[in-house]
Amino acid sequence: MRSDGCPYVIDRAGTDVQGEAAQLRTLGSAVEVELPGGVRAWSINSYALAKRLFADPRVAKDPRRHWPAFVNGDISDDWPLISWVKMDSMTINDGADHRRLRGLIAPDFGPRRIEAQRAMIEGIVADLLDRLAAQPDGVPVDLRSNYAAPLPAQMICELFGVPEDARPGLLRGLELAVDTTLPPEVAAANVREWQAGLQSLVDAKRMAPADDMTSRLVQALDADQLNDSEVIGSLFNVLGAGSETVMNLMTKAVIALLTHPEQRALLDTGQTSWDDVIEETLRVEAPIAQLPIRFAVSDIELDDGVTIRAGTPILMCLASTGRDPQRYGADADTFDLGRADKEHLSFGYGAHFCIGASLARLEASIALPALFARFPDLALAVPADELGPAGTFIMNGHRSLPVFLNGKPTG
Ligand code: HEM
Repeated sequence: MRSDGCPYVIDRAGTDVQGEAAQLRTLGSAVEVELPGGVRAWSINSYALAKRLFADPRVAKDPRRHWPAFVNGDISDDWPLISWVKMDSMTINDGADHRRLRGLIAPDFGPRRIEAQRAMIEGIVADLLDRLAAQPDGVPVDLRSNYAAPLPAQMICELFGVPEDARPGLLRGLELAVDTTLPPEVAAANVREWQAGLQSLVDAKRMAPADDMTSRLVQALDADQLNDSEVIGSLFNVLGAGSETVMNLMTKAVIALLTHPEQRALLDTGQTSWDDVIEETLRVEAPIAQLPIRFAVSDIELDDGVTIRAGTPILMCLASTGRDPQRYGADADTFDLGRADKEHLSFGYGAHFCIGASLARLEASIALPALFARFPDLALAVPADELGPAGTFIMNGHRSLPVFLNGKPTG
């Protein structure tokens, strides 16, 4: 809440995600905000409070049970964040239903299965690097669309067994799903289109099952372990959760290293590791800036006299919690690979902790060192503060990342 008593209006275009997170933090640990469509919510900005609420049984994820506005039909299909509350998957379920849906795909993300993806990731990375190397020298290349985006997207398409010709359509749908600047009718049409695209994939796998996650979900459907809408929702959930997030992690890590040569030098001299780069980037540049969307099941009284009323949406502002000075000290917003405490909430916490965290870390731990080894003179083609925002307040990324692969051209 601002001092004039009005809720803080979230910038739906995400023009300055970190600036907004910093502002919210100064307003309080829990701040009343207005989301697109005039929806009131609480934004949680302190690390300690977010961690507590992540694990609080009075905070739930199912809008169909705990969000009166949604139940009463006040939230229509053209609400810009509708896909987040409509994807019928583990992400909008609690308790036994959450465990059931998570359990169906958890084996695909177990340590052995993930480690088995190493060769696949290395192959995709090598191919993408070859394509980059073939670009004309001295001309800026967009590292987002040519490296950071295709790696996780291809990985998920491999895991799901998505045929080559269906990939572009599905991936475009994902980009639109997090674009909070879309006109309502475009957002609604997008939800319909991705549902249809995923349904075609399910139909194809029913006809010709293979060793992939989609086929396993179809088998579980046939065994009555989940329903039709949950199959589509689960696919959308994993596709959405696992592509833009990893892309943001990679672009932010590249920017951080290119703008902090003294930190990069620590890597070159072995004083720090790529794991440190990944964890410090996750902390200081949380790939999901505002994690939608939870609901208070009953009134929740906070320490400072604030009460979050039952039925109110809650967003965890991970862009803010990762830079909370109460947790990390006065230099919380500095990218510092030597920092002792790099623990973060960027993969969430508790029952909904990111199922793909190991996969994300593995992808970044292969792709980042390989990129810098192949192009040691990599340089930003525009100043970091001129990189455009991604057009969403949910995610923390950029629309493009222009770089010179072999250093800035001289003369
Ligand atoms: C750097 C990359 C990633 C980040 C920052 C990230 C972040 C998160 C966060 C914060 C949550 C918690 C959601 C909540 O509590 O409401 C989450 C859940 C989830 N993530 Fe990730 N994620 C990443 C990569 C991935 C990947 C690669 C996949 C799969 C391929 C994935 C799949 C999921 C799924 C399915 C959930 C839902 C878990 C549940 O509700 O039980 N994520 N992720």
